[in-house]
Amino acid sequence: MMKGSPNFWRSALLASAALAAAPVMVGAVNAAPAKSKAAPAAAPLTEAQVDARVDALMAQMTTEEKVGQLIQYFNFGGTGEQAAPLEKEVAAGRAGSLLFMTDPVQINRMQRIAVEQSRLKIPLLFGFDVIHGLRTVMPVPIAVAASWDPKVAEAGQTVAAAEARAVGIHWAFAPMVDIARDQRWGRMVEGAGEDPFLGSAMAAAQVRGFQGAYLGAPGRIIAGPKHFAGYGASLGGRDYDEVNISDNELWNVYLPPFQAAIEAGAGNIMSAYMGLNGTPASGNRWLLTDVLRGRWGFKGFVVTDAGAARDLSTHGYAADDADAATRALNAGVDMEMGISPGKTAFQHLPEQIAAGKVKMADIDTAVRRVLAAKIRMGLFENPYVDVASATKVLADPAHRDVSRRAAEASFVLLHNAGNLLPLNRTGVKSIAVIGPMADSARDTIGPWVFDVKSAETVTVLAGIKAKLGAGANVAYAPGVSTPKRVNGSFFDEMGLNKQTYVEVDDNAAIAEAVAKAKASDVAVLVLGEPQNMIGEYASRSSLDLPGRQQELLNAVIATGKPVVVLLMSARPLDLKGAKPGALMNIWYPGTQGGTAVANVLFGDAAPAGRLPFSWARSVGQLPMIYSHLTGHQPSTADKHYGDAPSTPLYPFGYGLSYSTFSYANLSVAKGKIAPGESVEVSVDVKNTGTRPADEVAQLYIHQRHGSSARPVRELKGFSRITLAPGEVRKVTFRLSPKELTYWSAAKGAYVQDETVFDLYAGGDSTAPLATTLSVAKN
Ligand code: BGC
Repeated sequence: MMKGSPNFWRSALLASAALAAAPVMVGAVNAAPAKSKAAPAAAPLTEAQVDARVDALMAQMTTEEKVGQLIQYFNFGGTGEQAAPLEKEVAAGRAGSLLFMTDPVQINRMQRIAVEQSRLKIPLLFGFDVIHGLRTVMPVPIAVAASWDPKVAEAGQTVAAAEARAVGIHWAFAPMVDIARDQRWGRMVEGAGEDPFLGSAMAAAQVRGFQGAYLGAPGRIIAGPKHFAGYGASLGGRDYDEVNISDNELWNVYLPPFQAAIEAGAGNIMSAYMGLNGTPASGNRWLLTDVLRGRWGFKGFVVTDAGAARDLSTHGYAADDADAATRALNAGVDMEMGISPGKTAFQHLPEQIAAGKVKMADIDTAVRRVLAAKIRMGLFENPYVDVASATKVLADPAHRDVSRRAAEASFVLLHNAGNLLPLNRTGVKSIAVIGPMADSARDTIGPWVFDVKSAETVTVLAGIKAKLGAGANVAYAPGVSTPKRVNGSFFDEMGLNKQTYVEVDDNAAIAEAVAKAKASDVAVLVLGEPQNMIGEYASRSSLDLPGRQQELLNAVIATGKPVVVLLMSARPLDLKGAKPGALMNIWYPGTQGGTAVANVLFGDAAPAGRLPFSWARSVGQLPMIYSHLTGHQPSTADKHYGDAPSTPLYPFGYGLSYSTFSYANLSVAKGKIAPGESVEVSVDVKNTGTRPADEVAQLYIHQRHGSSARPVRELKGFSRITLAPGEVRKVTFRLSPKELTYWSAAKGAYVQDETVFDLYAGGDSTAPLATTLSVAKN
């Protein structure tokens, strides 16, 4: 079955769902017997059923026990004396949830303390950063977004949910749905890029993958979209710094993916660290209550980001921890992600209630939401996991297959002079694989993976060797040392990142790489940013290749040999005009990355990933977006810097294929519609090349005039399709009032104007094929 074909992803989803449906019963090793061994709910509980059970519990709870449900603690799985303070809190019913545990034995152990020792026997909810897989690591989220195929995202998170649930994790702090428009910001790797339409599609797909058909579906976990809201717009791309977003951007760009995730049923939301327009997000009642619950009707529970409740005083907003607790709770936070016992803001809630600063009714509302999540997830019936079946689920080869195919679907071919790629598998007799990340399992997996299984990871070098077997000579040269950060990351300091380093004499290593390239038919360079240079606390002030990689690149290109550059990166990198024969972004491709790379390099799969962001030429252009407003002088829009073009190097939506495609017959079913009506837009896409391949057909709109000025182009439809050589397919998009409505800052409301739209369809955001659509009454 072809990669990217609808059938593959449908069967992958079905396979994972079947696996996920296997009930995880209380089992053998280390699992104390539960009172009831009922299988997880095969259908969602009704609200009345949940309410009745919540009522029964609430009637028995003390204030201290209620507040306990609202506190979550870090736990890295320590035992003995180290774990004693936390165990005491759990046994006393003063902890509702733990995060960071992944070992089912330890999870069962802590759960047993809650279920057997606490007065009301309320089980713990275990949360974790299941960002792109647990044991089977998928490509990083921005890579999955680059597939422009929500089925890929859904299948990946379905597998992640199955693995997480099997070890006892009930809740993912994911998807991250923050729009990222300044690529210096390291966390752009966790999201879907710059665009709210693509971002919304990926957000909803991931929620479906994590949660399945309903909250509490067997083998699924709670999705926690984050970081509400605006984190991606931090000043200068500096992580954690303040965010100032106009109303226009907030409603039209930053909020839509959250709304999409909630419409898809997300059971949790994480409030962000930073200040949004002057008010810390985690103490922002307008955001957490008026918008989230009032406008969107969110019914789940809100958790703060780690320590973000106490941070309200760090920000200079709350006076102290007690005030911070009051402000967070009153703003709409239900649970504090605390760090360790004795160091939370919410521990002060009982005294704040007594002082009349927090109403008991508001505490009750928050507690009810947390208990409802536990009830829906079936924790009271099945608090423990079966360790033996967890081992089996984690080892499932079908999961690795989903990861490999997702990686193949995500690569973006940026440049391919003279069709250097695909390489001829039988023609290539010698190949030099160069770069410190070419054989680095740690970098192949990418950030946000703490439990690194290097032996299970296929590096690019290993993938190429396996593909070519004895038929070719594969030489490896690191070329340069692994670049290092100037300011360390606390993830490194805490030992969570497990970054590995190749340490060589750079001058000698460059010479060795050049010699090996000269002696080979083709050189494949794997360059980019080691995984600890991207992610949380990993912003950069430069888009240059870090370390001495640029020198290495220039030296290898100077050999005159055919050079393929594979970029391991989640942000655009500035290659200073260097022109390798082929350039492909492979992101951080996950557990099966090397196999996927080899499949695409040698043409067993064809690349069809598309950029989910505009690829800036240099750091000075940032932020760079395709969906900007028309400026004062549109005719010179490409020359708005005196020293360089003001266009991106590669536009949003761009990516090459091993085939070619043409677009024709862009038409609207009706040239004029009334406000509130929907219309179909279709375009014929033809594979004009000689091999089957995927294409991502994209639809953009531009509103010519109205209550507010609107962007030059906005993505409003896309479809990834597989076409045989010569095949023509009519792709139909639906423009509904939702796509034609926007939030007008001038009106302070959503509006659908009577206006004229230019519609564009094609293979990227510069597509020339156009038609128009009028919206007018009568
Ligand atoms: C991050 C969150 C994450 C949490 C728990 C925070 O520092 O901002 O995204 O879920 O830590 O790991």
